[in-house]
Amino acid sequence: MNIGIIVYSQTGNTLSIAKKLEEKLSAAGHSATLEEVKVVGERKQGDREFRLETLPDAGPYDALVFGSAVEAFSLSPVLTAYLKQIGALQGKKVACLVTQFFPYPWMGGNHAIRQMRRLCESKGATVCGSGVVNWMRLRRERTTVKAVDRLSRLF
Ligand SMILES: Cc1cc2nc3c(=O)[nH]c(=O)nc-3n(C[C@H](O)[C@H](O)[C@H](O)COP(=O)(O)O)c2cc1C
Repeated sequence: MNIGIIVYSQTGNTLSIAKKLEEKLSAAGHSATLEEVKVVGERKQGDREFRLETLPDAGPYDALVFGSAVEAFSLSPVLTAYLKQIGALQGKKVACLVTQFFPYPWMGGNHAIRQMRRLCESKGATVCGSGVVNWMRLRRERTTVKAVDRLSRLF
C-alpha cells in the first residue's frame, strides 16, 4: 500500500514516533513516506497565530497516518488548520496518531484523536484506528511500542 505519514511536530516527539512507524511499514512491504507540516517562521509554544508554510499533498496516497501533539487537551491547532485546508480524503483509509506529555490518554489524547477523526471523516476518509503515545518517562517506551505496532497492523 502507498501510505503517507503526515505530521506536525514542534519539538520532535511526534516526528520520532512517525519515523519508527515509517520503518515498520516499510519493513512490512509498504511504500511509506513521511512528510511534515511546517509553519512560517518560529512558532512559540502554544501560539495560535501562525501561517502554514508546507501543506503536504495527501492526494497521491491510498492511506494516511496523521499525527501531532496534544496542546491544551486538544489537537494541535496547526494540524487542525492543515486538516481543514486539505482537499477531499474520499476513499482513503486514515489512522490518527497523537503524542502527549501527560501519562493517560484521557488527559487530552482521546479528545485530540476524536477531533482528528471528525475532521478526517468530514473530508470523506474512513478512519480505521488510532494510537496515543504518552511522553512521560515511565510510559513512553511502552506506549510507543503499542502505538507503532497497532498502527502498522491497520494496513
Ligand atoms: C502549548 C502546549 C500545550 C500542551 N498541552 C498538553 C496537554 O493538554 N496534555 C498533554 O498531555 N500534553 C500537553 N502538551 C505536551 C505535548 O503534547 C507533548 O510534549 C508532545 O509530545 C509534543 O509533541 P511534538 O514534539 O511532536 O510537538 C502541551 C505542550 C504544549 C507546548
